[in-house]
Amino acid sequence: MIMVMGLLVVLAHLKGSSSTHLSTDFYEKSCPTVFSIVQSVVKSAIREEKRMGASLLRLHFHDCFVQGEKTAGGNNNSVRGYEVIDDIKSKVEAVCPGIVSCADIVTIAARDSVFLLGGPTWKVKVGRRDSTTARLEAANSGVLPAPDSNLTTLIQKFKDQGLSPTDLVALSAKKGLLHSDQALYDGGSTDSLVELYSKSPESFNKDLVVAMIKMGDISPLTGSNGEIRRIAGSPTELIRKKKRHLSYENKKIRVFYYPIVVK
Ligand code: HEM
Ligand SMILES: *[C@@H]1O[C@H](CO)[C@@H](O)[C@H](O)[C@H]1NC(C)=O
Ligand SMILES: *[C@@H]1O[C@H](CO)[C@@H](O)[C@H](O)[C@H]1NC(C)=O
Repeated sequence: MIMVMGLLVVLAHLKGSSSTHLSTDFYEKSCPTVFSIVQSVVKSAIREEKRMGASLLRLHFHDCFVQGEKTAGGNNNSVRGYEVIDDIKSKVEAVCPGIVSCADIVTIAARDSVFLLGGPTWKVKVGRRDSTTARLEAANSGVLPAPDSNLTTLIQKFKDQGLSPTDLVALSAKKGLLHSDQALYDGGSTDSLVELYSKSPESFNKDLVVAMIKMGDISPLTGSNGEIRRIAGSPTELIRKKKRHLSYENKKIRVFYYPIVVK
């Protein structure tokens, strides 16, 4: 039996996990306090203005569908909550610099908002990374349904993102928690669900949790894709250039020796 030392060079990321999918424990070692920081900022924002909870939830919806863009047509000036995300981001950066993505902060803030407004809660999956490009084009390309979209279009646009009609209704449902869309209760196929939810908060909560998690799973950037944005807003060319340079310093070479057994 001969032992041969095999050499394997792995270029690994120094910081965070290089996992390529979302998980609930992604920040367990690298930034465990992120959840309490998000919750406390969201709590005080909602205490100050209840509507902010709704705004943060909507921000998550937009972020998931088009990887949100502040100045996109249609949402221009109507999408609120970026100040709250910026505030959370700077507090998180102070504790765990360069670890937590803005996309995850938006997702956690949406989960906390739903709960603080009287809805259900759930374990939130994290590990998203931020896009390195502004998504203005995508945001204007019709991925998001228009406010006057008919039910067929609404169902189709949600289906394009892997979401069912049930997800559509649960995410858009009444209860004062979310806004509702007239098209969802207009003599069509989703009427029965709207009626069910109005009678059964348990069904609503159950379907909402499923739909929120599915929405958070829409094509996230993970692993080595995208970046961890240092500032919550849209990336600028300047930030991108600096990042590209820094990314070499963020990597280290790990060398593993594997004993290979030759019989
Ligand atoms: C189904 C397609 C959707 C359309 C066409 C749509 C459209 C809109 C529009 C036009 C507004 C602004 C209303 C106003 O300012 O008076 C709005 C607000 C809002 N949307 Fe949607 N939306 C949709 C789906 C969703 C989903 C899936 C969610 C959440 C999961 C959501 C959450 C919200 C919330 C919470 C607000 C209020 C935000 C605030 O007060 O700042 N929407 N939506
Ligand atoms: C959004 O609003 C700002 C300020 O009102 C304006 O400068 C910008 O051109 C608008 N963007 C779009 C895409 O409409
Ligand atoms: C729904 O809207 C789409 C796009 O505007 C249109 O093509 C379609 O005919 C409409 N469907 C119904 C059932 O009204």
